[in-house]
Amino acid sequence: MQKRVFLATAALATFALPAGLALAQDNSFKIGLILPMTGQQASTGKQIEAAARLYMAQNGNTVAGKKIELIIKDDAATPDVTKRLAQELVVNDKVNVLGGFGVTPAALAAAPIATQSKTPLVVMAAATSSITQASPYIVRTSFTVPQAAVALADWAPKNGIKKVVTLVSDYGPGIDAERFFKDRLTFNGGQVVDALRVPLRSPDFAPFLQKVRDIKPDALFVFVPSGAGAAVMKQFLERGMDKAGIKLIGTGDVTDDDQLNDMGEGALGVVTAHHYSAAHPSAANKKFVEAFEKANKGMRPNFMAAGGYDGMRVIYEALRATKGKGTGDDLLAAMKGQIFESPRGPMFIDAQTRDVVQNIYLRKVEKKDGQLFNVEFDVIKDVKDPGKAK
Ligand code: DHB
Repeated sequence: MQKRVFLATAALATFALPAGLALAQDNSFKIGLILPMTGQQASTGKQIEAAARLYMAQNGNTVAGKKIELIIKDDAATPDVTKRLAQELVVNDKVNVLGGFGVTPAALAAAPIATQSKTPLVVMAAATSSITQASPYIVRTSFTVPQAAVALADWAPKNGIKKVVTLVSDYGPGIDAERFFKDRLTFNGGQVVDALRVPLRSPDFAPFLQKVRDIKPDALFVFVPSGAGAAVMKQFLERGMDKAGIKLIGTGDVTDDDQLNDMGEGALGVVTAHHYSAAHPSAANKKFVEAFEKANKGMRPNFMAAGGYDGMRVIYEALRATKGKGTGDDLLAAMKGQIFESPRGPMFIDAQTRDVVQNIYLRKVEKKDGQLFNVEFDVIKDVKDPGKAK
């Protein structure tokens, strides 16, 4: 009896061998992250890479029997390069998931490749509302600029800010910021008296700030992408705009945790709205910040790191839910509807829109233990992208 079982098993094993070999070769699960590792947006790439590696170090690199392989490619935030890299990752490397995308034009350039190849694409940084509509395979773990802009436009008029000039980077997320802030502020009885747009590449804020000084609004509302906030703050203070009674407000990109601590005391009191602060007072965030800072000396995680860390979580859990056997469509289905506690607080991937639903916090720059932080003082819970309702 024993022998027959043994023989039967041996026979099965013989037949199973070629398939087994094929399986062994096919045992990797590849995540291709396209990030700006060089150029003006490099801090975004650096933050997301560090966060993705931290997630893997904490959660292991084997999920549902698959070995996770992370491939990182640098697009320098240049959309034609993004598109070529996405193609190469799908066709040559046969990645299971695409991720990253530091700026909106990069995410939009890769969207058709995700659709054609049925590859889930996780946007971990870019924040223009319309991105998720560019492909049914896009899932977002960052935020949408309208989520933050609308929250701030509700806060401002209740806090003595009625007359505002907007100053935004002249591309997708900046145009979203300008429009959603203005619409909501106007609805709330406030007024945008001028709307200024600065070029994305190598912006010189000086002439724009001079103009704002002359107009003398209650506040200047700013959207600039991650990495550009320190330059705005410096020139704002150099011109003595704060002393002239003009408040600086914005989406949290302007008081980016990656740069905030070096902005100096002049940044104290700046109010912004955003989904992530390194000072978010939850146990999960404390653990995240400590581990991130330990693994990356001299760096503080910013909202880009949060988007990268949570993006990896969404991918890992989709792989786990599909038991390592899923197609792109199966993985996508398992990404939709995920609900979990992020370092930012609770978050949810809306199954209908594939976009992130999350808390938006109002924060003020304060000094804590000798360092500058965005300290949260109010919260709007479970905010959907206001752009999806339009
Ligand atoms: C985008 C880029 C950023 O660095 C940011 O802070 C917000 C939005 C973008 O291009 O979508």
